[in-house]
Amino acid sequence: MKSSLILLIIFAVARSAKFPPNFKICNRKNPNLDECLKEAGFIGVRQATKDYPEIHLPNLNPLEVNEMKISAGSQGVVNVNQNFKNCKLYGVNTTSADTLQFDFEKNVAHVSGRIDELKVFCTYELNGKILLLPISGSGPSTVIIKKLKVKADYNFEQVKKKGKTYMHFTTFTVALEPGSVFFNFENLFNGDKKLGDNINKVLNENSKQVFDDVKEGYAQAFGSIVKQILNNLFAKVSIEEAFDQ
Ligand SMILES: *[C@@H]1O[C@H](CO)[C@@H](O)[C@H](O)[C@H]1NC(C)=O
Repeated sequence: MKSSLILLIIFAVARSAKFPPNFKICNRKNPNLDECLKEAGFIGVRQATKDYPEIHLPNLNPLEVNEMKISAGSQGVVNVNQNFKNCKLYGVNTTSADTLQFDFEKNVAHVSGRIDELKVFCTYELNGKILLLPISGSGPSTVIIKKLKVKADYNFEQVKKKGKTYMHFTTFTVALEPGSVFFNFENLFNGDKKLGDNINKVLNENSKQVFDDVKEGYAQAFGSIVKQILNNLFAKVSIEEAFDQ
């Protein structure tokens, strides 16, 4: 009795799954596949405001991320490693796609679009210099990015398993172009409010320059979060289930 129960559970875990009916799916033979996928992606991110455990898709609003490390910039503006923990990202569901393409010959997915407003709440840790000013502290942080343009290419492999084909995402490039960025780091300098307020003011007066210096770090961080989501999702939903229905 016990062993048959275990077998049943393993069978359930190993089974592949289809997208739930509130998601739109597109057949890859559809002559308007790109248009269809664009709409499917749009609907998909708007639906993902709860967990879908059956397809290994987490709630995207808020999207919870344990850790994000953004390295110091390359132009000397941001001379500090930014360590973020226990992050909650709000606004992924405000994404609109301009392009969503899957090329199964070249094994690459192209995405471009815009996130209206992305709010990133974390616990930060900083110790270094920004704009030549010393900055140090730890506490709650807020980064709000408005009208964020995103362009990404994700390479994948096709892995055959039990007669089905699964996408496994590998390398990627992501480019970000924000409309505006707002920073707030609470409790800087062990809670010295005057110093902290001053630094936040300087950061926001120069937010474009500051973000530009660490944009690549943010792009890598967001890119690998999305890669993990895609890999979990498409390890569950095969190409046949996603694109041949
Ligand atoms: C995003 O999700 C939140 C709830 O998690 C909701 O209040 C908001 O209206 C959604 N935005 C869009 C554009 O769907």
